[in-house]
Amino acid sequence: MNTCIVGLQWGDEGKGKVVDILAEKADIVVRYSGGANAGHTVVVGDAKFALHLLPSGSIRPDTICVITNGVVLDPECITGEIDGLAEKGISLKGRLFISGNAHLVLDYHKAEDQLRENALGKDKIGTTIRGIGPCYADKVGRSFALRAADLKDLDTLKEKLNRIVNYKNKVFGVIYNADALSAENIFEKCKAYSQKLTPFITDTTKYLHNAIEQGKSILYEGAQGTLLDLDHGTFPFVTSSNSSSLGMSAGAGVPAKMVDKFIGVAKAYSTRVGAGPFPTEQDNDIGQYIRERGHEYGTTTGRPRRCGWFDAVVVRYSATIGGIDSIALMHLDTIAGLKELKICRAYKINGAECTFFPSDIKVLEKAACVYETVPGWDEGLSEITKFEDLPQNARDYVELVGKFTGTPVSIIGVGPKRSQTIFR
Ligand code: GDP
Ligand code: IMO
Ligand code: MG
Repeated sequence: MNTCIVGLQWGDEGKGKVVDILAEKADIVVRYSGGANAGHTVVVGDAKFALHLLPSGSIRPDTICVITNGVVLDPECITGEIDGLAEKGISLKGRLFISGNAHLVLDYHKAEDQLRENALGKDKIGTTIRGIGPCYADKVGRSFALRAADLKDLDTLKEKLNRIVNYKNKVFGVIYNADALSAENIFEKCKAYSQKLTPFITDTTKYLHNAIEQGKSILYEGAQGTLLDLDHGTFPFVTSSNSSSLGMSAGAGVPAKMVDKFIGVAKAYSTRVGAGPFPTEQDNDIGQYIRERGHEYGTTTGRPRRCGWFDAVVVRYSATIGGIDSIALMHLDTIAGLKELKICRAYKINGAECTFFPSDIKVLEKAACVYETVPGWDEGLSEITKFEDLPQNARDYVELVGKFTGTPVSIIGVGPKRSQTIFR
């Protein structure tokens, strides 16, 4: 069984938890897109792991972890994660494979991300400042790009780095009046990364196709969410990769037809970090209630997440373009205690009801949410393990999510722990 897990909202849906649980039955877990902008939380007993680049399967000692070509790899972050897990007694030796084609995020990418956001002022995207956009831009531009395989040939890397940093310094100096970066310093760091990462770098496309031939079970782990997809999200308030399930094939070098099931992860409400449209946002006591109960603060940046009602138009759209078979609905426990709950089932745009999400933010600005209001429940859900044992109103809420999104809910999260999960 090969499965792909993907976010259906604006990221942070709980993908890490779902991947960690499903990894129990997988041989291999693959991260195929995005970079250290992602923050995937895995809770095992009393321990909490926040992973940015390592697949969420890495906590399980026997799971093979693969980082493929579509990922932009921050070598500082990944070496830190490998060392961090080793300190906790979790070794990745012999079970981590990194694509030589994954592009490297280096200091000048992070510097540019910060400089550009500062220059944009109130119009900024609200990026994670992890150098994601500048690195993907260099990938597309080709001439100034470095990939993981470049760490294997230090002489050539030095030459390339001198040329790239020289160019970046000129550009950043003129546009942003920025201080020059030292190519020598970056190269010295790369020497250390080279030593640590070279044993892991390989042809992951070949590796995965061999594994497929051998009938291995592979779990593909998406990063971000469909509404942050560069092509299909709320552009320009998106990330710089195809973070919907559509990015899986190109990002991993594996055709989508080799995936048996696409599971979309959504929260029982909505959140968003950074700027951009958010039709069901509740910038009020309700949003605050959800933020505090759900601990809605960014895993990567610590920023408070914007919170709002469940938007079935968004999730239906993500499920439609992503070929999603079923939904993992997380954080059902978080919305307990609210007298009534709202689900946005359509938008009203220029007087007409519409259920297909308009990704053009100029159109989206005109959308008024059409809500279905339902009664909430007071009971805590965190000890419940069977769907039938949920309060009637919680069951009805889940059924409505299925109805308005046109997609069945197969997994329900009632807390951050592995055990706090209901399978239907
Ligand atoms: P990801 O980026 O999609 O992996 O999600 P994050 O890890 O950034 O954010 C999800 C947060 O919700 C993490 O702190 C998880 O531990 C937590 N979480 C996941 N599922 C549930 C759930 O069903 N209930 C509660 N209360 N917390 C959950
Ligand atoms: P996970 O995998 C939530 C958001 C940023 C910003 C926009 C662009 O944990 O769900 P970027 O740094 O990518 O250029 O920022 O995208 N963003 C995320 N929001 N979860 C994420 O990842 C995100 N990765 C990027 O907040 O609005
Ligand atoms: Mg996250």
